[in-house]
Amino acid sequence: MLGFSLSKRAWLRVLGLLVAAAAYLLQAHRSLSSRAVSYVKPGHWAVVLGGSEGLGEAWAYQLGHLDMNLIVVARREKPLEDVRKTIHEKKPDLKVELYKRDLARLNESSFSEMLEGRDVRVMIYNAAYAGTAGRFLEADAGDFLSSIDVNVKGVAAATHAFGKQLKARGVPGGVVLMSSMVGEIGSAFVANYAATKAYITTLAEGLYDEWWSQGLDALACVAGATITPTYLSSFSVPWRRVAALPRPTAGAGGGAQRAPAAEVKMDVDKKLRTWLLASLRMEQGLRTGLLDTGARVSWIEQEPFEVVSECLANLGRTSAVATGALNKVILLIFTRLLPRTVATQIFGHQTSKMLGIA
Ligand SMILES: NC(=O)c1ccc[n+]([C@@H]2O[C@H](COP(=O)([O-])OP(=O)(O)OC[C@H]3O[C@@H](n4cnc5c(N)ncnc54)[C@H](OP(=O)(O)O)[C@@H]3O)[C@@H](O)[C@H]2O)c1
Repeated sequence: MLGFSLSKRAWLRVLGLLVAAAAYLLQAHRSLSSRAVSYVKPGHWAVVLGGSEGLGEAWAYQLGHLDMNLIVVARREKPLEDVRKTIHEKKPDLKVELYKRDLARLNESSFSEMLEGRDVRVMIYNAAYAGTAGRFLEADAGDFLSSIDVNVKGVAAATHAFGKQLKARGVPGGVVLMSSMVGEIGSAFVANYAATKAYITTLAEGLYDEWWSQGLDALACVAGATITPTYLSSFSVPWRRVAALPRPTAGAGGGAQRAPAAEVKMDVDKKLRTWLLASLRMEQGLRTGLLDTGARVSWIEQEPFEVVSECLANLGRTSAVATGALNKVILLIFTRLLPRTVATQIFGHQTSKMLGIA
């Protein structure tokens, strides 16, 4: 009898765990939070730092679709112009201001000047520099410092300047900091990059709590593998190595950026279609699903718009969101169930395979 009641209790526990896990995985928010609705609004401005390509470009399109005017920052002129052109094809009246800047050299005063005179309510810090992947001791220290300039110093300066402006004006607003799964666990061969992403997630978590009562939101968007030019260009296998457009040299620290390679023309029609689809799904309250299976070769990869719409829907609801059900499961297993060293070893192994490091 005792054995029966114990096993019944155990079953109830298992059931409870399963229900909790299912609820966790299915907690797909489909629209803006009640807090974000007050500032993600037509006529307000959003600034996307690193907004000309990949995830940043998707942020610009998504916020543009919601009729926010945009300040888009990146280093290369042509991709910036392309983003404005694409947006104006759909929304000719939207204001889209472009700034050619290296975020490795961002300082608070120059950033504050960029925002002046506009009602900027949303800041997306998207840009990152992963540094040259490989063994820590074989890399140039300047390269790590460049990564810290863009991923840590730039994030701190921009978030501080933007938060201060909102606070001084006494208006609500939100900050999204693009982070990464690798920041949750750490990984060999990208150890420094992973550490910068840990900073970003931790910063957003602290600010979420600190800012809440002032009507300001902070969110770490913890992305997993997402199909962007930068992601594809990091592959060692040639058939996946779609190179990004040639890049300028990195900022203050002086390390070299990814080697320039063959130019890849982005298909504007495809972009527009993807944008429209994502926006439609957002409007209809549906979760943004698989938008374009063409580029995806692995079950774990996501499209930029999936990541962006899930993060946008979580702004004002939580401090950090790992995007996609699979990434949530992976995070649960790797950060809660597996011993830390085992989790790191598995991540390191996967990274070495991707980068072709023996
Ligand atoms: N893609 C993934 O699989 C993945 C996974 C996890 C997390 N993330 C995170 O998501 C974010 C976006 O990643 P992504 O793959 O789209 O590529 P990314 O290379 O991090 O970002 C590309 C955008 O940032 C701009 N940018 C890069 N460095 C810059 C700098 N120093 N100053 C100004 N702008 C700069 C680029 O334009 P210019 O080159 O013209 O400046 C471009 O607009 C990053 O924070 C990354 O860590 C990505």
